[in-house]
Amino acid sequence: MPAEGRIAARVAALRAEIAGHNHRYYVLDAPSVSDAEFDALMRELEALEREHPELVTPDSPTQRVGGAPASTFAEVRHLTPMLSLANAFDEAEFREFDRRARERLDVADIDYVAETKLDGLAISLSYVDGRLERAATRGDGTVGEDVTANVRTLRSVPLSLRLERPPALVEIRGEIYMSWRGFERLNAEQTARGEKTFVNPRNAAAGSLRQLDPKVTATRPLGIFCYAVGSVQGAELPATHYEMLGWLREAGLPVSGETRVAAGIESCLAYYRDIGARRPQLAYAIDGVVFKVNRLDWQRDLGQVARAPRWAIAFKFPPEEARTRVLAIDVQVGRTGQLTPVARLEPVFVGGATVTNATLHNADEIRRKDVRVGDTVIVRRAGDVIPEVVQVVTEQRPADSVPYEMPSEVPEQLLRQRVQALIHFASRRAMNIEGLGDRIVEQLVRAGLVETAADLYRLSLPQLLELERMGEKLGQNLLDSIDRSRATTLPRFLFALGIREVGEATAAQLAAHFGSLDALLQADRAALEAVPDVGPVCAASVQAYFEGAENLANVRALAEAGVHWPDLPRDSGAKPLAGMTTVITGTLRTLSRDEAKSRLQNLGVKVAGSVSKKTTFVVVGADPGSKAEAAQALGVPMLDDDALERLLADPAALPVILEATRS
Ligand code: IVH
Repeated sequence: MPAEGRIAARVAALRAEIAGHNHRYYVLDAPSVSDAEFDALMRELEALEREHPELVTPDSPTQRVGGAPASTFAEVRHLTPMLSLANAFDEAEFREFDRRARERLDVADIDYVAETKLDGLAISLSYVDGRLERAATRGDGTVGEDVTANVRTLRSVPLSLRLERPPALVEIRGEIYMSWRGFERLNAEQTARGEKTFVNPRNAAAGSLRQLDPKVTATRPLGIFCYAVGSVQGAELPATHYEMLGWLREAGLPVSGETRVAAGIESCLAYYRDIGARRPQLAYAIDGVVFKVNRLDWQRDLGQVARAPRWAIAFKFPPEEARTRVLAIDVQVGRTGQLTPVARLEPVFVGGATVTNATLHNADEIRRKDVRVGDTVIVRRAGDVIPEVVQVVTEQRPADSVPYEMPSEVPEQLLRQRVQALIHFASRRAMNIEGLGDRIVEQLVRAGLVETAADLYRLSLPQLLELERMGEKLGQNLLDSIDRSRATTLPRFLFALGIREVGEATAAQLAAHFGSLDALLQADRAALEAVPDVGPVCAASVQAYFEGAENLANVRALAEAGVHWPDLPRDSGAKPLAGMTTVITGTLRTLSRDEAKSRLQNLGVKVAGSVSKKTTFVVVGADPGSKAEAAQALGVPMLDDDALERLLADPAALPVILEATRS
């Protein structure tokens, strides 16, 4: 082969290989080479193209970001109009849509394809002979804007279809979006550059795509999911929408992995509920589910009304953003530190709940957003995330409003509260952190080293050495005992949290009853009140505690810091040891007296104060009192720590355990 032929072949091979890596990385999410290896291929291709400009083609991966900034976007007339979707806002409306479609088709059941409704912007991609020829926004549905140069910069968009025999023309539709992570990253960069941030991922995606300079778009973390074919020439479409999506995927286009066939309306509703529950965990914003009749011939039969097809519907989720007014701005303690300004709001229903408070994050945020008392604002509440003020509607700002000033110091009263909470947390009957006395807690809090209990587990020796009268040895001992306290019991942990109305005994009852923190977190008011000794006031307090976002965050942070305990068998209500009586004496190794007591009580054992002939057994810890002697004298069996543990784990083994004490 002559030299030119060899070079052309190498260029072609490099392009194919790079396109393959892009596809694996951006579409399949399964890269097979390192970034460095990928860059090396790109550099080799760039060098060859520089030496041989005649070999450059528009679909070369080096040509993704090309051309000078435009002054406007040219208009594009769509081959077939880009329709919009009818909406259903509740189950009844959705059922009505299905009923009408079945009636028109005269069938009993319809298979739908369920797709997430991405919150981005619609795009049309035209491939001629397999090459990306044009990308256009939806515009008014008939005429959109030519954004080809910008869309080419998305590496998830193939510049050529991965098909052996591509159709003469295919016009593909999808949604360009920005992931939550990308959105946060972009906003952080915008802030660092002193530029305006975006309110939500959709605005960020739209703003990024409508850049006159493709070089800017190229830096923006945009993604795309394709969901339809507008028109095709020179190829047969399959019989169903779902198969068509499979064809798009084969052609190298990204298709959402959340797409499913849902046979009949009940499966549709199950999908809607499932994805709704997972919505906060999805990587990107969705605002509903789109259901499409799967059979393409049925789609044709159903046709369209006005500007929306009769074969598809968007079943929306409750909105996560709403407008309301700021009544006041207060300051609270944030989880990670300092002070968190909180907006008190006129109550508004958003994200499925009534919101009266929203976080303003910190002083920087409040300044940047310029939120003021009296402002109309957009609040956002997604899943169990703390509601936040997203933006001020400045047009509705009262004429006499003044910028808000944050107080700059932590109020003394707050410091004292923190100190008290931490002293309780570390105390002997709670987490039992030896050596963490009142004085050191106070020093740690005032030095700003510790705010929440979880901060204790992140302390380092150099930090401790900053404190007055703290030496290496004392510091290391303290760190060791903090570390030891990570292994605890559920009753101790619950007691340590300092929930109002939850003393040591109640903590033990709650732990014994629910067995695990998860089960306790799921308990409603009635379930809590079913616990012995837990009345309505206590139940309400426990519930309120675990509904507090800060408290939950605190509990989670402690778990993340390595605080752990063995879960206990859940109390089934059965009392396998009913009729037995016990007395507890001495100090037990792992359980506090109250814990042992309530766990025995949960099994039906009566815990008495003095030993008699009727006592079934006596639990004897270290340094027992005269009760052990009495038991000895009366011949009552005595259980040590180990025997007690065995009994609690397996109450049915009592006879065997008692027998063992005799030998
Ligand atoms: S299908 C004729 N599928 O929602 C069907 N649209 O409210 C037209 N959208 O303009 C669109 N995810 O921007 C379809 N899986 C999905 C979608 C989706 C988001 C957007 C699209 C459309 C708008 C209609």
